[in-house]
Order: sequence, then structure tokens, then C-alpha cells
Amino acid sequence: ATETEEKDLVIIGGGVAGYVAAIKAGQEGLKVACIEKRGSLGGTCLNVGCIPSKSLLNNSHLYHQILHDTKNRGIEVADVKLNLKQMMKAKETSVNGLTKGIEFLFKKNNVEYIKGTGAFADEHTVQVNLTEGGETSIRGKNILIATGSEATPFPGLTIDEKKVITSTGAIALETVPKKMVVIGGGIIGLEMASVWSRLGAEVTVVEFLGQIGGPGMDAEISKNIQKTLAKQGIKFKLNTKVVEGDDSAADVKIKVEAAKGGKEETLDADVVLVAIGRRPYTAGLGLENIGLETDNRGRIVIDQEYRTKIPHIRVIGDVTFGPMLAHKAEEEAVAVIEYITKNYGHVNYGAIPSVMYTHPEVAWVGQNEAELKEAGVKYKIGSFPFSANSRAKTNADSDGMVKFLADAETDRILGIHIVGPNAGEMIAEGVLALEYGASSEDVARTSHAHPTLAEAFKEAAMATHGKAIHY
Ligand code: FAD
Ligand code: NAI
Repeated sequence: ATETEEKDLVIIGGGVAGYVAAIKAGQEGLKVACIEKRGSLGGTCLNVGCIPSKSLLNNSHLYHQILHDTKNRGIEVADVKLNLKQMMKAKETSVNGLTKGIEFLFKKNNVEYIKGTGAFADEHTVQVNLTEGGETSIRGKNILIATGSEATPFPGLTIDEKKVITSTGAIALETVPKKMVVIGGGIIGLEMASVWSRLGAEVTVVEFLGQIGGPGMDAEISKNIQKTLAKQGIKFKLNTKVVEGDDSAADVKIKVEAAKGGKEETLDADVVLVAIGRRPYTAGLGLENIGLETDNRGRIVIDQEYRTKIPHIRVIGDVTFGPMLAHKAEEEAVAVIEYITKNYGHVNYGAIPSVMYTHPEVAWVGQNEAELKEAGVKYKIGSFPFSANSRAKTNADSDGMVKFLADAETDRILGIHIVGPNAGEMIAEGVLALEYGASSEDVARTSHAHPTLAEAFKEAAMATHGKAIHY
């Protein structure tokens, strides 16, 4: 049966981008519907991304710490055992709690949740293949595309999510692999390498570039974290490309060679994680029915107000430009609704933080040294090691550093890069500083509680502006 109903806004995709836009639209009094096909809200982030990975990172860290780092703290632990099934259950409990929470927020904000797959029938109509069977169609004065992204496959390897996996398989393995090869030393590769290496796998990360961490990570910080991860047992092969993979036998064989050509080697693994990036997802969306095209990287092209060439159809989140991050999608979601309702919205793309949730964490905002050099900007550096921070030392968790980059002339902060315990929380202060155009002196002259890790942040600012006290 086909019924046609008109809304102020129809959103395709109930991930972070789509669900936040839906709630915001409801708050603004728009008649809004959100179409999601996966059976639960929250998209990649809540179902198979940010949230489940952080549950496993947190609990595998606890396990690893209890195994290796309790005696000197005066804690004697006997009989430590991994219960992987329970660890996965704990992960599912957090995921379910949060995705159900969004359903509640939808009700509270009068958002209609349509379970099914949406495709454009025409410029104002979305045809929905309902999950429970049947079809419906829905008209929108405005339509928002928020269909997200998917893992980029590796040519020659067939993803079965058991033996050859993406992050989706990596958060759901039923046993700890003996040998795991990770293709790609970006954020997914390193977070998942951490989880499985802590739980007992022998993990080798193969990275094409000369540094780990993916795009944006400062080279000095990247070296610093690599050293710590290597101490934890992860092996790295940098400047190395995977030439081919063979998954026809029980074990997967991965042939690698030096990126510039040369020595070949074959790595054996019982599980191979493909983590070479993600790509926009628009399959089955019917873009061709309305004449919308994607660029050479699969992104739907938009203007600064998130509009496609059809002005009432807008796009946000992973499926379009910018870093593929949940909080970036969230900022865009609020801004796009403000554009629709008030003709004004704003996202500062220069102040979107990145966090890698390894231990220690890595976090940064603004530009790194290589980017500043390339732009010909003169800058000064101030850094401070956690080994000179009283709280980090007392916690016996003092690997890492805080590094400020500020304009050589004006002292305005251009970038902040942290590797260290709780870096992901600490970077929020850096984002605020950048957002308000602070100088390193502004931060250096701001009181930070003692004894906290945040004092390392202040001292790095002091080192940029003048001198640190404790180093
Ligand atoms: P998605 O979350 O991908 O949501 C899109 C939704 O649209 C999906 O649910 C999909 O089912 C639905 N959909 C697609 N097509 C249709 C259709 N035709 N009809 C109906 N529904 C459709 N980011 C962070 O900021 N922090 C992290 O710690 C972090 N960790 C991550 C860990 C992993 C393992 C991965 C893979 C990603 C992680 N990310 C993280 C990235 C983050 O998940 C994404 O940036 C975020 O989910 C993007 O939101 P989105 O709404 O644009 O897309
Ligand atoms: P990525 O872009 O971060 O890293 C991919 C890495 O693979 C790069 O270092 C690249 O040089 C390397 N690579 C590419 N092709 C290769 C090849 N053939 N052989 C060897 N190495 C190769 O992508 P990743 O890690 O897959 O993550 C995708 C996105 O998901 C991230 O960019 C991020 O936006 C998001 N994400 C964010 C997280 C967070 O915020 N904590 C956590 C996980 C994912």
C-alpha cells in the first residue's frame, strides 16, 4: 500500500548525523520523520563504531592492567581469567541502552521513526521499503541525506567478518585470534590492535606510510605513541604495502613489500583486519532518480549550507566532506537545521578535535607541524612531558606529552597535540582555547587544579609562552 504524507523534513539515515538533526528539528517545531534501515538508531557510531569499540577498549585495558600492573601498586590478584563472552555482553548492554535512549528522545521530540530503507522516487518523495514488509512513501518539503559510510574493502580479500574482518567483525570476535594482521595503521587499526593484543593476540600492523595514526596526527606524537604501543607488544611494519592477500586456506596469507618496492615477505594470520579507511555510503539511495552525482571519492557534493544542487535536499555526516567523526556529524546536524529554520548555521571546521582511544590516548585539535610548514606559517613549540606531571607520576601512568603550536609572532594557538592518559578529555580545553582564539599565554595564566593531569596542559602553554616550571 502506498500512502503519501508530507513532512517539513524527511531524514534518510538514523546515525549520529540523522538522529541529532531529527531531534533538533523536533525541538524547532518541524514535522519530521527519520528513516533508518538497520533496525536500531545511532548508526555506525552507536551500533558498530564509537560505543562498542570504547566498551572493549576500556574493559580490555582493565584486564591488561590487572594482569600486568597491579603488584607494584600493592594489589595481589590471583586467577585472572578472560571471559570474552561476558565482555561482549557488557558491550552489547551499553549499545542497547544508548540506542533505545535515542528512540525515547525521538518520542519526546515528536520525531516519527520509520524503520526501512529509503530511496528517492522524485525530488520531494522518498520511497520506503519497510523492514516489517511492504512499502510506503513520504513527501518532504526538505530532505536530508545522512546515510553515512562503510569500510573500504581491500582488493583480493573477501570480507567474511570472521577470518577477514572490518571493524564490525573486530568488535565481535568469538575467540581471541592467535595471530592477527591489521592492514592500515590508522585510528581503527590501532584501536582494534590494542583491544586484541591486550586480550592475548599477537598483532602486526602493516602501514603504507612512514607513520601511524592516519591523517592529521602530528609526526612527533605519532612516534611517541608508536613506542608505547610497541612496548605493549604490538608489532609494526611501516612503509610497507600489502601486495596481495590469499584467504583460500584456513589461515590468511598476506604478501607485503617495502612501499618503495623491494623485499617481499608473507605474513600468516588467523584473522586479518582491513582498516584502510571508510567511504561514503549511497548504495540503493536512488540518487540517479533525481540527477544527483557523487565526486571521485563517492561524496555527495554540497555547498556551505549543506545544499545539493537541488536546494531543498541537503547532506551531512560521513557521506559528504570533512573528517568522518561523530562529533563533526553532530555539529553539522545542528547547523543544517538552523539553516533550514533560520537561514543561518555555523560549524568551525578548524576546531574539530580528534581522539584515538588507545592507552595512552592521543588527541589533537588544529594544525600539526607538517601542515604549518606546508602553509609557510612561522610557529613556536611548547611541550611538556607527563613524566614531569605529579599526578601522572603518582598514578604510575606517565607516558606521553602535551605539545602546543602557536603563531611565532602573535602567540595565537594554532594546534594542540596530546599523547597521554585522558588526552581525550583534556583536548576539550584546547578546543575551547582555539575556538576563542586564545594565545598560549592566556592558557599559561589560567589556574589549573593541583594535582591534575591538566597541569601538564598548562605547563605546555607556559613552555610556549615562556618557561615551564617543572621541566
Ligand atoms: P552513520 O553513523 O554511518 O549512519 C548512517 C545510517 O544511515 C546508518 O545507520 C545506515 O543504516 C543508515 N542508512 C544508510 N542508507 C540508508 C537508506 N537508504 N535508508 C535508510 N537508512 C539508511 N567517531 C568518533 O567521533 N569517535 C569515535 O570514537 C569513533 N569510533 C569509531 C569506531 C569505529 C569502529 C568506526 C567504524 C567508526 C568510528 N567513528 C568514531 C566514526 C563515526 O562512527 C562516524 O563518523 C559517524 O557514525 C557518522 O555518522 P553518520 O550519521 O554520518 O553515519
Ligand atoms: P584512517 O584513514 O584513519 O587510516 C587508514 C590507514 O591505512 C592510513 O594510515 C593509510 O595510510 C593506511 N593504508 C591505506 N591503504 C593501505 C594499504 N593498502 N596498505 C597499508 N596501509 C594502508 O582509516 P580507518 O582507521 O579505517 O578509520 C576510518 C575512519 O573512521 C577514521 O578516519 C575516523 O574518521 C573514523 N574513526 C574514528 C575513531 C575515533 O574518533 N576514535 C575510531 C575509529 C574510526
